[in-house]
Amino acid sequence: MNFLLHYPLETERLRLRPFTRGDVDAVFAYRSREDVARYLFDPPLSREECALAVQQRTTELGLEKEGDRIILAVEKADDGVLIGEVSLIWRSVEARQGELGWIFHPEHQGRGYASEASARLLEVAFTEADLHRVYARCDAGNTGSWRLMERLGMRREAHFREHALFKGGWDEEFYYAILRREWLALRQ
Ligand SMILES: CC(C)(COP(=O)(O)OP(=O)(O)OC[C@H]1O[C@@H](n2cnc3c(N)ncnc32)[C@H](O)[C@@H]1OP(=O)(O)O)[C@@H](O)C(=O)NCCC(=O)NCCS
Repeated sequence: MNFLLHYPLETERLRLRPFTRGDVDAVFAYRSREDVARYLFDPPLSREECALAVQQRTTELGLEKEGDRIILAVEKADDGVLIGEVSLIWRSVEARQGELGWIFHPEHQGRGYASEASARLLEVAFTEADLHRVYARCDAGNTGSWRLMERLGMRREAHFREHALFKGGWDEEFYYAILRREWLALRQ
């Protein structure tokens, strides 16, 4: 697949755009926090680690081969403040499967911004990227994340119980997914 997205992607209140080198401080503001990192694989990041992450993200803008990721900065349309990021990973080329992810600054949570941005990227997944199924996963204790999945119309497909060790304890993981035809039906 080789499609060209025209950035920024716009929603009612937000702009989803490529990361730029000037975003390091804004990313550090949320990725350095313990509460944000609690359910992420990465621990809180240093400023240097954020600079590296931002540099990598500036090129993660399209899906050409399996494993490629689109990671976009989310900013408020009214004041341009960067409030978080959303991602789409191409997990299987043959079966047209993708995975969505999201990380938002706590000061900008609880307003539906993560849902609004993720819904736009889900639309890209099922239109431009022509995927068949999109899934998302999170720790079972990450209520904000699985509630967001449900808001997007995803179904809970699995609850893995004590299937791995994570940050010193048993991991409980939810998988959620939505098929393209389910997504289309929701829009009618
Ligand atoms: C997961 C995460 C993105 C969810 O953020 P969020 O702001 O709760 O998600 P949403 O955008 O869906 O907002 C929903 C909340 O906004 C409220 N809201 C206010 N206005 C709204 C609107 N216009 N539309 C929708 N929801 C609205 C909802 O009622 C809901 O609040 P509630 O949970 O108290 O019921 C956030 O918790 C996060 O970044 N966590 C840290 C990183 C992380 O764990 N990422 C996921 C790893 S799997």
